[in-house]
Amino acid sequence: MKIVWALAVLSCCAIPSVVGTRFVCYFPNWTYSRGGDGKFGVDNIDPFLCTDLVYSFAVLDGATYQIKIADEWGDIGNNGYANFIALKTRNSQLKTTIAIGGWNDSHDGTNKYSSMVASPANRKIFVDSVVAFFELNKFDGLDLDWEYPSGESDKAGFAELLKELRLALGTKLISVAVAANSTIIDLGIRYDIPVLAETADYINIMAYDMHGPWEPLTDHHAPLYKREWDTDATNNIDAVVKYWKDSGMPSSKLMLGIPLYGKSWTLDYTYTENPTLPAPGLGNGAAGPLTSLPGTLGYNEICNYVKNENWAVVVDPEFKIGPYASTPSVPKTWVGYDDPVMANVKSRYVLDRGLGGAMVWDMSTDDFRNTCGDGPNPIMTNISRTVGVTTSTTTTTPAVTTKTTTASTSTTTGETTTTTPTTPRASTTKLSTWPRVTTERTATQATSSKTPFIPNDGHRIAGNSQQLTFLAFGFILINFVI
Ligand SMILES: *[C@@H]1O[C@H](CO)[C@@H](O)[C@H](O)[C@H]1NC(C)=O
Ligand SMILES: *[C@@H]1O[C@H](CO)[C@@H](O)[C@H](O)[C@H]1NC(C)=O
Ligand SMILES: *[C@@H]1O[C@H](CO)[C@@H](O)[C@H](O)[C@H]1NC(C)=O
Ligand SMILES: *[C@@H]1O[C@H](CO)[C@@H](O)[C@H](O)[C@H]1NC(C)=O
Repeated sequence: MKIVWALAVLSCCAIPSVVGTRFVCYFPNWTYSRGGDGKFGVDNIDPFLCTDLVYSFAVLDGATYQIKIADEWGDIGNNGYANFIALKTRNSQLKTTIAIGGWNDSHDGTNKYSSMVASPANRKIFVDSVVAFFELNKFDGLDLDWEYPSGESDKAGFAELLKELRLALGTKLISVAVAANSTIIDLGIRYDIPVLAETADYINIMAYDMHGPWEPLTDHHAPLYKREWDTDATNNIDAVVKYWKDSGMPSSKLMLGIPLYGKSWTLDYTYTENPTLPAPGLGNGAAGPLTSLPGTLGYNEICNYVKNENWAVVVDPEFKIGPYASTPSVPKTWVGYDDPVMANVKSRYVLDRGLGGAMVWDMSTDDFRNTCGDGPNPIMTNISRTVGVTTSTTTTTPAVTTKTTTASTSTTTGETTTTTPTTPRASTTKLSTWPRVTTERTATQATSSKTPFIPNDGHRIAGNSQQLTFLAFGFILINFVI
């Protein structure tokens, strides 16, 4: 009934300038060389899950300051770019962009990005090369992944570059992948936020890797909220988002990054019982069979460990963080990651805070082959549907219906994992009462009950959002009106 009213309100007072929620998905160009079930190429992309697909990466030529194809054989010879852009023929709403940079290219020891932005002549060479690049390769835009500008010269040069790109690229999209860790305090030095706000279509907040096996104690790498024991109040997603908003970045341009992978430790821990958090670590967890990267596991690897190898999962009943899992045997590998439930919590956060959308890094490690039986791409599918991406090319209006439908299903979130009947909750459901799954979703109940997750001091998610406890229905409306 309320939903009907919402639709009536929306159709009577339709505001034409409403921009749909984006879902930005990164495609890494190197994952087609993985073996077996890990192999991920353009053919594995579902063109209906995301609104914006980002091909990663092109690189910066440090000698000429031009944008450069990273892998002539794969990107051009093997039609990497062409096949990627051709996904638009299946979904005409889709945008395909090219990212330049990434961690490796930003850290090749030459400081080439700093040199490029520091000189007007070098910037012009770069901008001209991007224009020429787009004449040959029909991407819809450029994603700048310089990790990271640092200091006054970089900040000023990057701002000039953005203005010049904006002028030169016309209607092409410009996006920027930005940092989100305890150094957010530096963002004012690293980024000229008013210029970013004016020139970029959106920014992708890399809201992960906020903790990792380089630290002595385990912790989840993408915490949504500060926990009681956190000493750094800025190293969590909510603080980062608040920072960007308070600094003048329009909420509608903020894309919240959600990881499709976990960060893992080998535990310095000889007990067989499951660790509490934080636990002492000994550096990188063992590499997974598909991604082969110590310290990192794809969700497609983790879900198989949980399903087939009896890794014990602990879920934060307050959903300040996603789950963590560890091996039954010693030495234990410990991994903190986001599953579909946590991705759902973060997607709701996107809606609740009126952000422009969600982003994922990266498409190759969702369970795209459905090896765990929760359907193909279970995390991306949930994000996509929750933030309201239309899954059909035939309609544009369903943004409304999709979102409204999502709102009604959202009230049952989490209840499916308990024996509670899945009756929809009243529309007064608050964010704080969303998923309340308690610990344990594996067979190892006994061990986990001895190791409570965190002391419950009565704080709830809403503790961080007391102003935002409006009706589920209400925020959907507001989402449209803003
Ligand atoms: C993918 O891009 C990277 C740069 O990020 C490049 O080094 C690599 O050669 C490319 N292709 C493959 C198959 O790795
Ligand atoms: C980045 O560099 C590391 C270390 O040299 C290498 O192992 C990895 O394959 C590189 N990644 C890409 C995407 O080129
Ligand atoms: C955050 O990023 C900075 C800059 O790249 C890095 O030096 C630092 O180690 C990171 N901090 C954490 C907690 O990841
Ligand atoms: C997303 O996940 C939540 C939590 O598991 C679930 O309740 C909801 O039905 C899912 N939504 C979609 C659209 O799959």
